[in-house]
Amino acid sequence: MISLLALSQQAATWLAVVMGLLIAAEFGFIGYIVYAMVKARKSKQEETESADEYDLIGSSRVGEDAPKYILNVKDLKQWFPVGKSIFGKPQGYLRAVDGVSFDLERGKTIGIVGESGCGKTTLGRTILRLYDITEGSAVYTDEHGKQYELAKLKRKQLQPLRTQLQLVFQDPYSSLPPRMTVGAIISEAVRVHHIVPKNKVHNYVLNVMKHCGLQPHYYDRYPHEFSGGQRQRICIARALAVQPDLVICDEPVSALDVSIQAQVINLLKKMQKQMGISYMFISHDLSVVKYISDTIAVMYLGNIVEKGTTEDICSDARHPYTQALFSAVPVPNPHRKAKPEELEGELPSPANPPKGCKFHTRCKHCMDCCTEIAPEMREVTPGHFVACHLFDPPETMQEEQITAEQPQQEQPEQNEQEN
Ligand SMILES: Nc1ncnc2c1ncn2[C@@H]1O[C@H](COP(=O)(O)OP(=O)(O)O)[C@@H](O)[C@H]1O
Ligand code: SF4
Ligand SMILES: [Mg+2]
Repeated sequence: MISLLALSQQAATWLAVVMGLLIAAEFGFIGYIVYAMVKARKSKQEETESADEYDLIGSSRVGEDAPKYILNVKDLKQWFPVGKSIFGKPQGYLRAVDGVSFDLERGKTIGIVGESGCGKTTLGRTILRLYDITEGSAVYTDEHGKQYELAKLKRKQLQPLRTQLQLVFQDPYSSLPPRMTVGAIISEAVRVHHIVPKNKVHNYVLNVMKHCGLQPHYYDRYPHEFSGGQRQRICIARALAVQPDLVICDEPVSALDVSIQAQVINLLKKMQKQMGISYMFISHDLSVVKYISDTIAVMYLGNIVEKGTTEDICSDARHPYTQALFSAVPVPNPHRKAKPEELEGELPSPANPPKGCKFHTRCKHCMDCCTEIAPEMREVTPGHFVACHLFDPPETMQEEQITAEQPQQEQPEQNEQEN
């Protein structure tokens, strides 16, 4: 009887111990869950707070100490070989870019305008060294004043510059990978180039999207779910996410409706103001270029024929080609008569450009000298340059005309007479 009582007491003790352990474990488990939840909440809060450290809009690159120019292009040429002889030698060259010079100030926009086929895209791609440079120089100066001669850099040396120099393409439909989500597209380069720490990439990309007018829930969506304007915003977000210094925008709004064009351009302008980036804005449309650019360069068949401030070009265009481009811009005023189209004929082939002034085959002011002598750039008013014989100083014109009129063969005869 006594042993039975002792046994039941022992069992009760064990039961109490087990129950105690179970309750402790339960409390421990609940405690652990509470601890984990608090910790997760805290780290999320920390991540959100520190995401602001990695805001896309950091300090502007147009500080007082920053160098004035970001890009200096001098006599840049891009000639593509055409045809090959049986020995593999090119039979000729297509002069897509044929001696282009301009300077771009830091934090400003240069508009490159001209007809389709005049070499705008090739110029942009050559500066970014997507093609090897045939001749000439393109110097990029970073915000600390370090200069890079892009023409001379090897592929490996160009790699670190790939984030600083970005390109936004014309076609937002083909330039986005269809099988990647918006978040993955924007974060790809951010991860590869270690723009922010790995654990901050997600929030950083959301921050970039916010600045570019993209809703956070677009993060997991695919490009085909978006309109053209939204796709171009994604392209811009992808380019800006790596915090570039210079962005070459190649006809970024040409594929969009007019109302959407204005939104995208306004976004580019806003980001430029906040980040201090510089743009080279390429377009065939003068009315678009003048809206965003500080300076404009007008291109014809691989050359710049006129350049100056936007005001110079828009209110005082001097070159017959620039004037013809303006005559083609529709005027949104029913009371004003549309000007007759001044530009006739097709753009000649850059593989076989006309002699003298390349525009002479289409120019209504063409003079004798224009068919023989290529005009040089002259400064017609401070900062406003034109390459046209109409603006040659009279004495230079006379000298050039005399030289052009004298056939080369006559010179030995003259010498003989002298002898
Ligand atoms: N990779 C290339 N190889 C040969 N010719 C090219 C190449 N890229 C462009 N071109 C030619 O160079 C000229 C200028 O083209 P492009 O730069 O695309 O003009 P734009 O952008 O002003 O329309 C065109 O005649 C074009 O056919
Ligand atoms: S140089 Fe002669 S052909 Fe060329 S744009 Fe001037 S006037 Fe016309
Ligand atoms: Mg183009």
